[in-house]
Amino acid sequence: MFNAEYAAKKAAVESLIAELGAELNAVPEPLLSSIKYSLTGGGKRLRPVLTLEFFDMFARIGGGAAGAAIPRAAAERFALAIECAHVYSLIHDDLPSMDNDDFRRGKPTNHRVFGEGIAVLAGDALLNLAYELFFQAVKTGGAAAVAAADGAARLLGARGLIGGQALDISPGAAKKPDSIYLHKTGDLIAAAAEGGARLGGADENSLARVREFSYAFGMAFQIRDDLLDRGESGKPNKSVKPGAADYVSVYGAEKADAALCEYTKKAVAALEKIETACGADAGFIKSLTLGAAARAV
Ligand code: IPE
Ligand code: IPE
Ligand code: MG
Ligand code: MG
Ligand code: MG
Repeated sequence: MFNAEYAAKKAAVESLIAELGAELNAVPEPLLSSIKYSLTGGGKRLRPVLTLEFFDMFARIGGGAAGAAIPRAAAERFALAIECAHVYSLIHDDLPSMDNDDFRRGKPTNHRVFGEGIAVLAGDALLNLAYELFFQAVKTGGAAAVAAADGAARLLGARGLIGGQALDISPGAAKKPDSIYLHKTGDLIAAAAEGGARLGGADENSLARVREFSYAFGMAFQIRDDLLDRGESGKPNKSVKPGAADYVSVYGAEKADAALCEYTKKAVAALEKIETACGADAGFIKSLTLGAAARAV
């Protein structure tokens, strides 16, 4: 997606994922195949790219007031943890008891191939693996890694992504997409971006801007996803569930488009504040933000 620079960064994440796959050989079948099917089955790798890019962005300027960056290898374990958590969330999101979807990333969903029981366990295994990887980051990453992993744990949990998913599937007349998106999508993006920035040595002021970026970007990303789910372009058309509280159902396509544009502007503005405050170069993340708003998958 986006451009050649993105393709190179995505390829770097793919090779980290391949290395991680090789560490899983002791996992029994068919669980191993089920995990690998979803972990290596395509995907934009957006969140780990964000983690590593925010890490590099602050590491390049020698860290912020909070101190120097931790070893990059620890940031890579952290980025992998975030992708494992993301993939777990997708496997569970597709289950018959949740969105009941048959296709993901152009292939049959995990439960369609391996059955519901194994798909549930593959999701559990990936979430558990995420925490193994967080602990590995903490082992070499010191206090910054503890803070990043602590933040991510909360953002992934019942007050974060899981809470957002619960709201999303709960019937309720007054459901507002904004608070659902904040959690189901924004919190994992915040864990990825803020985590990377913390590991790169960003100070509290920059971290607050990264958070501002994350939630604006998360809203824009999910609104774009809703538009794509309606078959607006490349993504296979997903049936929109009755009672869905997505942006397009609640506000209509025109308002959704306008909100996508507004949130994208907010995300870019937050990045520009970081550039002004500490001289970091957010050029790549800016073009990624614009690319994500116009993406076709
Ligand atoms: C899908 O995320 C879930 C949403 C938050 C919309 P992505 O669109 O990043 O999924 P992959 O990893 O690229 O397939
Ligand atoms: C997904 O939202 C959010 C998470 C998986 C946490 P959606 O249900 O809209 O995502 P897709 O469209 O299935 O990828
Ligand atoms: Mg869903
Ligand atoms: Mg879904
Ligand atoms: Mg969707």
